[in-house]
Amino acid sequence: MQGDSIYLHFGDITDSSRLNDLINQVEPNEVYNLAAQSHVQISFDEPIHTSEVVALGALKVLEAVRNIGSSHIRFYQATTSEVYGNVEASPQDEKTPFHPDNPYACGKVFAFHQVRLYREAYGLHASNGILFNHESPRRGENFVTRKITRGLARIIAGKQDKLLLGNLDARRDWGHAKDYVQAMWMMLQQASGDDYVIATGKSYSVRDYLDISFGSLGLDWSDYVEIDQNLLRPIDVSEFIGDSKKARNALGWEPKISLEDLAREMVATDLAHEGIDPAQFGF
Ligand code: GDD
Repeated sequence: MQGDSIYLHFGDITDSSRLNDLINQVEPNEVYNLAAQSHVQISFDEPIHTSEVVALGALKVLEAVRNIGSSHIRFYQATTSEVYGNVEASPQDEKTPFHPDNPYACGKVFAFHQVRLYREAYGLHASNGILFNHESPRRGENFVTRKITRGLARIIAGKQDKLLLGNLDARRDWGHAKDYVQAMWMMLQQASGDDYVIATGKSYSVRDYLDISFGSLGLDWSDYVEIDQNLLRPIDVSEFIGDSKKARNALGWEPKISLEDLAREMVATDLAHEGIDPAQFGF
């Protein structure tokens, strides 16, 4: 598929032969592996599929890159704060021990070590970006930030009157995807591969995010939110908060967009999606 400057090739991350063909055909300078079954709760329901995509999928891309035998290819792996699980250490940095608490995170730990191994054993320019939660108006609707802003816009539009959620006490270090994608690119511009935590260093609860988004329209979320027991996970990590000192020093990276601005952007986009002019609410 061809756009102005982008070519989309179809392929399945679990299909090694397709990955080998594509890498040979495209001869990329940089490879970013963002492919995943990335929903934590779904990974409890589909642990095998999740592992095939998240763990073996990453290894298959690495193998395709190694097989081409071309030393100029730089490789980025989307690692995640989920690798830390419920650890005592806070904030989490590159030295914090891994304790994955769901099948998705277990797959990501496997992939993390394969990337490190390919770097150390084969000299591949390979980096793990240990990214904490990153959101935008393009976020899938079954992740909590987007679920909240989509639900809020639909409430305003009169299309739903309740919003069902799970654990409101969970705390996450939420940043804007735009800032985080820049960090991914910066990692591949370095002289050699390495592992970096990318985070804002601030943690907020799901309740806080409800306060910010409903509050931006002058509403009290407790009038609309109900807890659905089915949305509670077998284990949920109670708090993530990242220390990205290494990335700040080595890459010169820092997050620019606050959670308040991120939430307002998501609320405005979802209102517009419902045909409601965000300017009505002072946006
Ligand atoms: N999805 C969802 N839906 N989460 C809910 C809900 C709900 O209705 N109610 C409460 N939560 C809580 C979850 O229990 C979790 O503690 C928190 O909100 C965030 O959930 P998600 O938005 O689904 O994200 P995540 O933290 O599990 O994982 C995301 O971030 C990771 C770190 O970057 C995903 O993008 C992962 O793929 C990613 O690795």
